[in-house]
Parts: sequence; C-alpha cells; structure tokens
Amino acid sequence: MQLDFGTAPTAADADTLTDLSSADSPSATSAADPRGSAVRTVLPRVDARDDGLELVFEGRLRYEGDQLLGEGGMGEVRLAHDNDIDRRVALKRAHPGMSRQALARFAEEVRTVGKLEHPNIVPIHDVGLDEEGRYFFVMKYVEGETLETVIERLAAGDREAHERFDFDARVHVFLGLLRALAHAHERGFLHRDLKPANVMIGRLGEVVLMDWGIAKPIGGAELPADDDAYQRRLVHTQHGAIVGTPSYMSPEQARGAPDLDVRSDLYAACVVFHELMTLRHYLADRPQNVPGQLSGAMEAPLPPVTDMPAWTHASQGPLPIEYVHFLRRGMQKDRDARWGSAEEMIHELEAALAGRVRVQCPMSLTKRVTREAGRFVDRHPRLATTLLFATPLTLAATLLTLASF
Ligand SMILES: Nc1ncnc2c1ncn2[C@@H]1O[C@H](COP(=O)(O)OP(=O)(O)O)[C@@H](O)[C@H]1O
Ligand SMILES: [Mg+2]
Repeated sequence: MQLDFGTAPTAADADTLTDLSSADSPSATSAADPRGSAVRTVLPRVDARDDGLELVFEGRLRYEGDQLLGEGGMGEVRLAHDNDIDRRVALKRAHPGMSRQALARFAEEVRTVGKLEHPNIVPIHDVGLDEEGRYFFVMKYVEGETLETVIERLAAGDREAHERFDFDARVHVFLGLLRALAHAHERGFLHRDLKPANVMIGRLGEVVLMDWGIAKPIGGAELPADDDAYQRRLVHTQHGAIVGTPSYMSPEQARGAPDLDVRSDLYAACVVFHELMTLRHYLADRPQNVPGQLSGAMEAPLPPVTDMPAWTHASQGPLPIEYVHFLRRGMQKDRDARWGSAEEMIHELEAALAGRVRVQCPMSLTKRVTREAGRFVDRHPRLATTLLFATPLTLAATLLTLASF
C-alpha cells in the first residue's frame, strides 16, 4: 500500500495515514503525524546598526539548495545550506511515493546512523520533512570524493592520485573503514552494503562510511521487504531475493544465508581493499551480470601469491607481499578461515605498516629479515657497523690466506 507524499500535505493526508495504520500493521498514529510542518529557521538574522541591534525573525525554509551529490537505491543526496546554523549540509531525501514499509526503513536508517557515533561514520544532524512532504535527514556534508572515484583515478594512472594515495596511504584509508566497522559491529550492526561508492574521503583525508540504508542488527529480524525503495536494492536469484550489491557480497550473502555475521561485512571490506590496492575488481573477468557476479562471489578464489601479474597494475608496482597474504585470508570462501573481527585486521595491518611483517613465504621472510636488520642498526649502530665491515674483511683475509698456500 502506497502513501503518495508527492503533493503538499493536507489534513486529509493525515487521515489517510490513520486509516492505513488501522488497516494493517505496523501501526502509526495520526496524532504524531508531523507532515505539513516543513522545517523553518528559528534564529533571527542579526543586523548590527549604529543605534543598536536589529533582530529579524525570517522563518525561512531551514534547508535550501538543490545540487545533486549522488543518487542510490533509497533516495537522493543533495547539498543544501542550513540557514539557521549557516553551513553546508548533505540532505538525504527519500523517494516520493513512500510506502509505510519504506518509511519504517527510513526511520531505521536514521536511528542506526544516530546510534553509531564515530569519527569514521557520517554524523547525522537532523531529520525533517520538506515542502513537498518528503522525509529527509541531514548529515554532515563530506566535501571530498567517494572511494569509487579515487579508485577510478588511480586505475587511470592519475599522477596526483598516486602521489596522494601510495600503498601506505591506501592502507590508512582502509583502516578508517575497519574502525567504522569495528564500532558498528561492537554496537551489534551489520552494514551489508560495503562498496567504494559508500565510502567517502574528505578534503582533510578523513574516511567516512555512509549509506546505512540496509544495515541490520546482527541476528535481528529483517523488516518486511515489499516497499519500492527496498525492491530497488533487492537482487533476485534462483534462491529468492537478497539485499546488497552482488560484486561486493560475501559468499554466504550471495547464497542468501540467513545467519550473516561480522565476517560477511569483513569479506566485503576486503573486496573493497583488494580493488583499492590492485585497481581491479576480483570478479572483472566474470560475466558482468547478477548471476555471473553472484557465482563469482561464491566460487572465484583470489589468484595465488606467486601469480605476480594478478597482483600488479600497469600504473604501479606489485602489491607488497604482506597485503597479498592479508587479502587472501580475508577473502576465503569459508568464513571460518577468514579474519574473525575488524580489530584483528586492524592489528595485523598496523603491524605491517610498522614493518612487523608476518613470515608466510620466502618473500615475506626476506622482507622481515631486512626490516629486522634495519631495526638492529637503529638499536646498536656501532656494533652493526663493525659487523657489516668486519665480516667481509675477515672473510677476504681468510680467503687470501688460504689462497697463498
Ligand atoms: N554526507 C555526504 N556528503 C557528501 N556526499 C554524500 C554524502 N552522503 C552521500 N553522498 C553522495 O551521495 C551518494 C549516495 O549516497 P548514499 O548514502 O550511498 O545513498 P543511497 O542509499 O541512495 O545509495 C554517495 O555515493 C555520495 O556520492
Ligand atoms: Mg549508496
């Protein structure tokens, strides 16, 4: 059943909502129906004059502006100006013609983001109704670009992008995403739609995870899925309808498993990290349609560590070996073989950044030995220098002595 919010709300609309709520669950009450009260400014304009102050109460529309920032399954995001606080904000508006289920889902998204206060999660400032009676919520405006754009620029060989986002900087970006996930998981929420388009990098380098439109409490019940906005995010498979983005789904999410846990989000996060580091999607060679991507998510393994071309891109050198091992573990099809938590992954990556590379193959052994040798020089500079020069000298003297006999 649809509630058309496309026209200016009237008292009759409120009655309609009452009728609907009594007709089927979940219920809503007309007494609390706020439609028709488009948000207006409350603070006065302050004009300082020679003979004192003039305060002008304008009662303007609080949020104005129309530049489209992005559009997705649940609605559109526009840049707006908050006329009360006098700053730019991002406004996410639901699609018109919102059904009761869509409204329920919208309310869930607002409350989920509201519960997740964290530096790597987009903060929510306000919620309201616009002139046309469409629900919106107000977020911090993240001035920057999505990770999707960053990856595109890197893959195209953009020099400025490569200077700003070398491998270490990309690991730092991913750590921001993992910290957001660690917080959400600790609070009991799964994101379920991790992908580069849902991660933003702000002008100051801050990493912000957004779009909690299909987030769900771990182990919690799914909201009814019969509204239009949700339908747009559903993927229909032979096993039924699943929610998310096929090319970033974990194998269990692609299978439609009902018992997703944090390891499903962590797999998707690793798909994002893989793409950010290798500049290609691991399912790029698979058919670019829903069945092709879903079967890839369930079956396609990552290339072996020794397949150097697979870990190299024309615009950059090969991926440091520790990240190849990290990704191969993170994208195991069997979730028991993956990383168990975002914290564990953060710990591993911080150790790698600090040079404490885990020894897993001859290459990582070589790297570890060289890094340890460097650390030894830092701790014992004189002894290290003596050893470095003394050893070849001793060796040469022994060889010369032996040769003279
Ligand atoms: N707070 C924000 N600041 C700047 N741009 C944003 C913000 N939120 C979303 N966007 C842009 O809008 C796009 C869609 O937003 P998102 O929350 O992912 O909505 P949807 O549920 O429709 O996918 C994002 O990919 C991003 O480009
Ligand atoms: Mg999105």
